[in-house]
Amino acid sequence: MDYYKNKHVYITGGSSGIGLEIARKLFSYGANLTIIARNSAKLEEARRNIEQVKVSSGQFIRCLSVDVSDSAELSRVISQTLKEFGVPDILINSAGIISCDYLGNIPYDKFDAVMKINLYGTRNMIAEVLPAMKKEAHIVIISSMAGLVGMCGYTAYGTSKFALVGLAECLRGELKQKGIHLTLVHTCKSYRYVISTEGRNLIQ
Ligand SMILES: NC(=O)c1ccc[n+]([C@@H]2O[C@H](COP(=O)([O-])OP(=O)(O)OC[C@H]3O[C@@H](n4cnc5c(N)ncnc54)[C@H](OP(=O)(O)O)[C@@H]3O)[C@@H](O)[C@H]2O)c1
Repeated sequence: MDYYKNKHVYITGGSSGIGLEIARKLFSYGANLTIIARNSAKLEEARRNIEQVKVSSGQFIRCLSVDVSDSAELSRVISQTLKEFGVPDILINSAGIISCDYLGNIPYDKFDAVMKINLYGTRNMIAEVLPAMKKEAHIVIISSMAGLVGMCGYTAYGTSKFALVGLAECLRGELKQKGIHLTLVHTCKSYRYVISTEGRNLIQ
């Protein structure tokens, strides 16, 4: 896994769940990390957790507390981070919220929040870092099995995850022209089933 040594990886949702596990794995391979989420206490706890698998004294983990669905604030924070700490070689979009219910039970605001975080949050992060990314950089979008198969009771969540497939498929050609890789991941709760389309496998 020498590939990750000294690479700078931005991970949204890096304070919990899948994002945190990816962060630990890549840090153990020698990567430097910028982890992004809203809750600063959880970010700090994650930083201490990830530090345990440090393999070289020069490695760093930076925590950014920001809401990926707030495009203006995200733009301010990311443009400052790009200037101060550098452009990511890899951007992993794992920030997301899960919401399960029938359409009739989901108020407009809840549906809107799921779309704003899962879809627009991913869109916002990519839009902020893409102009600075170099050839051979890599963008990862975490969708879900609920973005491949319409599941009853996942109306808002499934819609947001299907939309990420559309975003990835449209972006793929655009990124190809810049020599940037894209991996779209469909995972499900047991984590045993992971389908990724195109791009190198991030985790073995
Ligand atoms: N777990 C599953 O079964 C499963 C299955 C398929 C796909 N997925 C997808 O995998 C990704 C991670 O899921 P998970 O289960 O690991 O979730 P999780 O443990 O709940 O972690 C979600 C992460 O996203 C961050 N986050 C949420 N909203 C955010 C926002 N508006 N701005 C910035 N950060 C935000 C959270 O931190 P803060 O709350 O502090 O912001 C946290 O770090 C999601 O996209 C999810 O849809 C999960």
